[in-house]
Amino acid sequence: MSVQPVLTLDSVSKAFKCGDNMVNVLKNVNLTVNSGEYVGIEGPSGSGKSTLLSLLGLMDIPTDGALSILGKRTESLDYNARAKIRNQHIGFVFQSFNLIDEHSVLENVMLPLRYSDKQQKVEAKQWCEFLIEKVGLKDKAGFLPYQLSGGQQQRVAFARALSNKPTMILADEPTGNLDSANGESIMNLLQEENDNGCSIMLVTHDHRFAKCASRRLSLFDGELQ
Ligand SMILES: Nc1ncnc2c1ncn2[C@@H]1O[C@H](COP(=O)(O)OP(=O)(O)OP(=O)(O)O)[C@@H](O)[C@H]1O
Ligand SMILES: [Mg+2]
Repeated sequence: MSVQPVLTLDSVSKAFKCGDNMVNVLKNVNLTVNSGEYVGIEGPSGSGKSTLLSLLGLMDIPTDGALSILGKRTESLDYNARAKIRNQHIGFVFQSFNLIDEHSVLENVMLPLRYSDKQQKVEAKQWCEFLIEKVGLKDKAGFLPYQLSGGQQQRVAFARALSNKPTMILADEPTGNLDSANGESIMNLLQEENDNGCSIMLVTHDHRFAKCASRRLSLFDGELQ
């Protein structure tokens, strides 16, 4: 398998308006992540980790610099084009699970696949049922999020992140709200995806889990080290 960059950041900066001032949260970040890499990002609270992941996930736009995904420049893409890349290539896992309360486990996992025709929907349902079984929740597919433990909710979020067969997974403190057994189960799932060739960007405060990454980076005050 040839190695190619899935992500390239060239002097990427991000500033937020704060009253009359601009606050520089990311400063000239340069980074290339190749396909299949597992990158861990550490750094103190407020150093810009989540801001960086939201740029990588095309949920926000750099103030300056160039961000390419799979070799394609993203700065001038409109909302729909960004959403399409996100939907086709990126799976997200957050600290706070971010499941939709009114949707069942199965509906949550199927959410990224909602733009499909009837036949695709049948296949999508089978695929999502498979993923729910893979994360050990076969008997909970009809449950609502509030009927699950935190660890189970995070496994649903993980299955949802996999439903569109992403090229990369962006995980922001995915074990932050979990006990160590549930944290380990999420880390094992991440490792398995990486073994299958998926690129991983993992933000974590937990040194035990940071060790899982094959490349470790630190953010300090918006600068990548
Ligand atoms: N939308 C926004 N508007 C203004 N400032 C913001 C915005 N989003 C983030 N910031 C600021 O950017 C800085 C970095 O925030 P970010 O959430 O990226 O930190 P973090 O490294 O993820 O921290 P933590 O470890 O606590 O999650 C913070 O000072 C925060 O106040
Ligand atoms: Mg954060």
